[in-house]
Amino acid sequence: MGRLIAVTSGKGGAGKSSVSVHLAVALSKMSNKVLIVDLDAGMRCLDIMLGVSDQMLFDLNDVLKGDKAINEAVINVPLGDGSLHFLVAPLKGKIEPKELSSFVSSATSEYDFVILDFPSGAVDELYLALPKYAEALVVCNADAVSLRDAAVQGTDLKTLNFLSVRLILNRVSFDNMRRGITANIDEVIDSSGIRLMGVVPQSMDVYMSCCSGQALNKKCRAAKAFQRIAKRIMGYDIPLVAYKKI
Ligand SMILES: Nc1ncnc2c1ncn2[C@@H]1O[C@H](COP(=O)(O)OP(=O)(O)OP(=O)(O)O)[C@@H](O)[C@H]1O
Ligand SMILES: [Mg+2]
Repeated sequence: MGRLIAVTSGKGGAGKSSVSVHLAVALSKMSNKVLIVDLDAGMRCLDIMLGVSDQMLFDLNDVLKGDKAINEAVINVPLGDGSLHFLVAPLKGKIEPKELSSFVSSATSEYDFVILDFPSGAVDELYLALPKYAEALVVCNADAVSLRDAAVQGTDLKTLNFLSVRLILNRVSFDNMRRGITANIDEVIDSSGIRLMGVVPQSMDVYMSCCSGQALNKKCRAAKAFQRIAKRIMGYDIPLVAYKKI
């Protein structure tokens, strides 16, 4: 049975899709078979970030409605060295919770990791459709508004049946932390109330990669941050203190 990871946020634009993409790439480069699924029906974007928008023939609803098998509908993403597959959100219509529920149990029997990029806003019926082994990653930034929204989101998710709820702090500037412009790491942990899984720096490489669908240079700070998070998710003991150097 593979692992099911729901990438969410309280506030829109915190970086859910960017984190989903780069985490999926990092996990696939560590010899995992990974499926990344765009759940933002009507507002899809992962095809651009993954550099495959000219290859899409089928979408998630083709699978959910039973018209295509998962392996017929997925796109092989070159960024992931052959072990990363992608299923795009439908352009029209909505995602039915019951159908999502049976889809994720099939998908996790075929993949080591299934990463679900959730849309912003209240999608409780989709969270409730997930099985008890689903793990939630809440993405937030270090500003006060994002942190408050993450705290609310974390509290909500903890009342649902997730196996774990963890925080990814994205777009971090340690300079801003040092100058007191944003919360520092300890304040982030305290005010979000969610256990920290990883920290991703503010990075022009991430921004450009998301615009162009090109891979991150594996030596850039952001790529290293995603590699560390992927390792932590896989159970390696990577101390959080190392993040302070990024
Ligand atoms: N670490 C980062 N460094 C620089 N830019 C980033 C970083 N993470 C995300 N971004 C940029 O922030 C913007 C929003 O990111 P993204 O689309 O991933 O957020 P989202 O939470 O998925 O948004 P939505 O709520 O609309 O789905 C994008 O332009 C992306 O390139
Ligand atoms: Mg998004």
